Amino acid sequence: MTGSRLAPTDIAVVARAQRLHGQIGLPGDKSISHRALMLALLASGRSWIRGASGGADVQSTVGILRALGATVIEEPDDEGRVTYRVLSPGPGGLRQPDALLDCGNSGTSLRLFAGILAGLPMTAVLDGDASLRARPVARIIEPLRSMGAALQGSRQDSLPPVTVTGRNPLSAVDWSTPVPSAQVKSAILLAGLRAEGTTRVREAIATRDHTERMLRARGVPVRSGITDDGGATVEIEGGVTVQTMDERVPADPSAAAFWLVAAAIHPSAQVRLSSVCVNPTRRGGIDLLRAMGADIGETETTAGGVTNEGEPAADLVARSSSLHGIDISPADTARAIDEIPVLCLAATQAEGRTTIRSVGELRAKESDRVAGILGGLSALGANVAVDGDDIQIDGPTPLQGADVDAHDDHRLAMTFAIAGLVASGQTSIHGAASAAISDPRFFDELERIRS
Ligand code: S3P
Repeated sequence: MTGSRLAPTDIAVVARAQRLHGQIGLPGDKSISHRALMLALLASGRSWIRGASGGADVQSTVGILRALGATVIEEPDDEGRVTYRVLSPGPGGLRQPDALLDCGNSGTSLRLFAGILAGLPMTAVLDGDASLRARPVARIIEPLRSMGAALQGSRQDSLPPVTVTGRNPLSAVDWSTPVPSAQVKSAILLAGLRAEGTTRVREAIATRDHTERMLRARGVPVRSGITDDGGATVEIEGGVTVQTMDERVPADPSAAAFWLVAAAIHPSAQVRLSSVCVNPTRRGGIDLLRAMGADIGETETTAGGVTNEGEPAADLVARSSSLHGIDISPADTARAIDEIPVLCLAATQAEGRTTIRSVGELRAKESDRVAGILGGLSALGANVAVDGDDIQIDGPTPLQGADVDAHDDHRLAMTFAIAGLVASGQTSIHGAASAAISDPRFFDELERIRS
């Protein structure tokens, strides 16, 4: 985000809605869109990525593909989904960039490209906006260094920018990730593609598995195992060629979560969402909302809607619901990490106490989301407390429109906008333009379905 938070165009004013009704247009899944572009860069030839995200984060990844020597042609459709056609020379033909690689606001771009660059014979610098410059990178620098690449971050290697000097081949590694992070796992797997032998990543809590599924779909053997205690081990063979693909990206379940909560907490609502990714490692938000009593119908989408990545997709219908509080375990928090802000909003309208455990990682997202949730929902009249790394919310509390600060964080901006649909009076969200990071059409959809 470049605009000032207080610039008039960056404030969205949302009034209470009488009714929420209709079909919501969603962006293509952000995690899958990033990975599809990156794997297209590593495959020599033409790849097609249909129905992908056109959000600012994925645009950052597109910019980096071009800086490294790929051609990317973009065709947006009427619903804001984008088809990307990528022509890449493959890893052997990529060029050393002549400027900083700008990841903007996107942690996924920065961390996954660090893994890709670790195995390429060039030096490149990954940088981003003020938010990204405050996010931790030691978690990728350490494993990639142990594979033989040279990486340097600022502030004793703790923060971006990160300079990467790659090496080919890298050494395979057996790495246990201290924090559950699909970005860290994916960075190591992408470096593992260029390593000699078998690279293994062990996770105490299994994270989203798109990188594994998408590598397999492109001919790279990846073995995954689940441990008895809910952890996972992933192994990749180095030196295997990534093949090009023509694929379709399902809709983003993290973007869907805002509308599922909107319908569940609004007294007169029914919304429909098509072909949403319901990968078991991504459907945490849907499952937790159902556990709170949300009325969410789910119909598996048949062949056409299932991506050739092997990602299951479903059509969802959500309606006004009576919610009750639940206790969300550390593993469930990790599984729904991007949906926690809007689940906190749902909890303000649920009967009884909701406890969300081990939310520490939320402090290292696009903003300190624990502070942002506490500040924003409290300003709206909710009963929210933070106890160490746990959030406690007692409900239901009627929300009153207020001025709230999204801290230029897209998921906070959209959470507070949904709150505005049920709050009395008007809710003014500062930093609302950040919604375009993941869902540029969010506020258009919000206006369209209210009546
Ligand atoms: C993502 C992983 C998660 C998530 C982020 C996208 C990914 O981050 O919060 O929005 O695409 O791999 P962490 O890996 O930091 O948990």
